[in-house]
Amino acid sequence: MSKITRFSVSVEDDLLEKFDRFCKEERFATRSEAVRQIIRDTLTRRAWEGKTHEAAGTLTLVYDHHRALLRDKLLAVQHDHADHVVATLHVHLEHDLCLEVIALRGPADKLQQLAAQLRGLKGIFKGELVMASAQT
Ligand code: NI
Repeated sequence: MSKITRFSVSVEDDLLEKFDRFCKEERFATRSEAVRQIIRDTLTRRAWEGKTHEAAGTLTLVYDHHRALLRDKLLAVQHDHADHVVATLHVHLEHDLCLEVIALRGPADKLQQLAAQLRGLKGIFKGELVMASAQT
């Protein structure tokens, strides 16, 4: 764990009131916790805009498993990008509904392209990519 540094921030009273309300609603233990998370989120978002930044993420898909072609395509695309697919978790939600969480790792732009390709397949009901920086 890296060393903690304290710094002070000047902010208008009304903005601080709003921020404190936000911290309470989002159940942050302290203002510092909230600020740290907001800084990390902002830096992660920025990093994702940089194409070659090393990133990690999860792609969550919900789909109809009775579409045999879809299952085949999902597997084929993942095998084509085996260097970026770290692991998959498959959950049988209902008789014909599957949830799949695919852990990805690699350059941000490659992961976004791969997620778009998978999410765009016919028969996917929901697809959401959650991104994280693979670097601190
Ligand atoms: Ni299933």
